[in-house]
Amino acid sequence: MSQTNIAVLVSGHGRGSNMQAIIDACSCGAVNANVSVIIGTKEDSPAMNRARLQGINTAAINPKAFPDNDSYGMQLLDVMNKHNITLICLAGYMRILPSVVIKKYRWAVMNIHPSLIPLFCGQGMFGENVHKAALEYGVKVSGCTVHFVDESYDTGPIIIQKVVPVKCCDTIETLAARILEQEHIAYPEAISLFVQNRLKVEDRCVHILPSQDCN
Ligand code: GRF
Repeated sequence: MSQTNIAVLVSGHGRGSNMQAIIDACSCGAVNANVSVIIGTKEDSPAMNRARLQGINTAAINPKAFPDNDSYGMQLLDVMNKHNITLICLAGYMRILPSVVIKKYRWAVMNIHPSLIPLFCGQGMFGENVHKAALEYGVKVSGCTVHFVDESYDTGPIIIQKVVPVKCCDTIETLAARILEQEHIAYPEAISLFVQNRLKVEDRCVHILPSQDCN
């Protein structure tokens, strides 16, 4: 099987902890893939700086520098082609990916969201907003979701979810931290399943096929 080359996409203020979890899982061999390039919407986000310090290729592509979403998408595709990318991972990327990219990479683009989708997701639900909404609603569990990306915010087929308890003494920060820990486990797990060709999308269900190793 050919090598899975990953592009991680981050937004302008991206902190890059999920990006780092993916890099670490690939470099220690837990995931049999290669992080080929980090693409940011800005040159100097913490995530991009972190990537450069580790000698990973970066590309800054500012969507606002393009006349429309399609031409931004074509530029993204150029970078994907250059690095022979087979999987795109959004990690703190706050935009809808241009449809030219989604079409070319159908079910080969993943995102992570810090709630149990379909709760507390969709446009405007990012960062603190998600955890604030969960606490205000009074849910007893929350968590994170890795899903394939389609043309809307957080609506694509769900690959993996991790559940964490919500405690009565939780603040936005303590809940976010508990969930982030699980994000760093869930994302590499989902990528590993993809690399092993074990994800089959049927309607909006992602079937996880058995491992070939367990005979
Ligand atoms: C994470 O909470 C992720 O679920 C969401 O954006 C945040 C990115 O954090 N999509 P980081 O940059 O990976 O630390």
